[in-house]
Amino acid sequence: MIIPSSPAPIKSAAGAPSRIATDACGCHNLPTMDYFQYKNGELYCEDLPVAKIAAEVGTPLYIYSKATFLHHYRQIATAFAELNPTICYSIKSCGNINICRMLAGEGCGFDVTSGGELYRALQAGGDASKMIFAGVGKSDEEIRMAIDAGIAAFNLESEEEIENVDRVAASMNRQAVGAIRVNPDVDPKTHAKTTTGKKETKFGVDLERAERVFDQYRNLKHLRIAGIHIHIGSPVYEIQPYIDAVNKITALIDRLTQRGHKIEWFDVGGGFGVNYQRPDQAHPITEHAKALVPLLKGKPYRIAFEPGRYIAGNSGVLLTQVLYRKKGGSKQFIIVDAGMNDLIRPTLYESYHHIWPVHPTPDNVPAQRSVETVPNNGEVVDVVGPICESGDYLAKDRLLPHTQRGDLLCVFTAGAYGFSMSSNYNNRRRAAEVLVDGNSYTVIRRRENYEDLVALERV
Ligand code: LLP
Repeated sequence: MIIPSSPAPIKSAAGAPSRIATDACGCHNLPTMDYFQYKNGELYCEDLPVAKIAAEVGTPLYIYSKATFLHHYRQIATAFAELNPTICYSIKSCGNINICRMLAGEGCGFDVTSGGELYRALQAGGDASKMIFAGVGKSDEEIRMAIDAGIAAFNLESEEEIENVDRVAASMNRQAVGAIRVNPDVDPKTHAKTTTGKKETKFGVDLERAERVFDQYRNLKHLRIAGIHIHIGSPVYEIQPYIDAVNKITALIDRLTQRGHKIEWFDVGGGFGVNYQRPDQAHPITEHAKALVPLLKGKPYRIAFEPGRYIAGNSGVLLTQVLYRKKGGSKQFIIVDAGMNDLIRPTLYESYHHIWPVHPTPDNVPAQRSVETVPNNGEVVDVVGPICESGDYLAKDRLLPHTQRGDLLCVFTAGAYGFSMSSNYNNRRRAAEVLVDGNSYTVIRRRENYEDLVALERV
């Protein structure tokens, strides 16, 4: 099986939601296009005041914008259209089944990394022939499940794994298809914990070993290895590491072709950065495409991408309510009802998430979201959660407008690796998720209740 081509992914303006159609003239080039904007002095998601949703569903609350999700997906598809790539949304970034279904409906494939993600993608109606299974530690059960489902390919990370997939496929009397994940040894210049394409990370097969591995496993009976995969890291804010990695891999494919291997696809991975701090922090995807399309156009193999954050990041926010103000030494703490169990990125990676009141005073309604915005009547605060750890914070030493008990705060750019990395730590119930579409919303995951917390512990 070969990774198939995505069917024409771009909807005409007439077929697109009206909000997208209105913006269609320029928005594909805009780096920060999303539908979380201040209108009439308060924060809206699309055509709904977020405070109205919070009043009905409660906080902490993840709110996603359908139009933003679709916009970002289409933006990538448009930017790389000349390559007619297969786009495999990386489910780990934000995997609610309703969101997967929405993207599957656009012709999007899926990058899955566990049996659970595969199950999710299938439940969402995803096309198995556009699914790829990544990860260094696939269990036999997961391999069987993926072969049974008829996924497009395994992204294979080691010799032992290759031999095991062949063995499992043989036991099922089936033939599996795979790509070798090659470690191109480039530095994506991102957080050490999310750097994956450098030597001495656990990912992929060293570039120098790749030819030997292809040679060694060219005649397996139950595993046909026909593709190459890379994923250099996440989030990546420079284009050069992609260029370097792609150049190394296209040269490798040339060498492999000379040795008689037929490479059918090259999966370039994901990692494209988004704007957490300011509107021009990340390159628009068009800039990535400008650099990468010429390197890949006209090649005799298909191209795939695995974006997660670029699609989900600015498509979701976390809404939280201020519980208390408190002084501690020289610090002013703002204690909110969302904690590190809801959004662990600041704790785990020291990540910046922009935070701003949902109802700012008229002189604090921001023209844009930026780390440089200086509020009127501002104060430097730590925004912290209710969890019993000092590492439980959403922002440290942050200059924010003055807020008080009862105020709603919005934590922006929380769509990717927000809910998907949330937990029940301190036995907190995981937040609800809501998907907004124009002037209506759907609760796409109800807030957990106390019975949920103990349900699996009963016999
Ligand atoms: N493909 C592979 C093989 C991956 O491992 C990942 C992410 C992606 C694609 C999607 O990367 P994206 O386009 O979303 O950047 N928890 C971290 C990010 C970890 C990313 C893990 N792999 C964070 O919150 O920043």
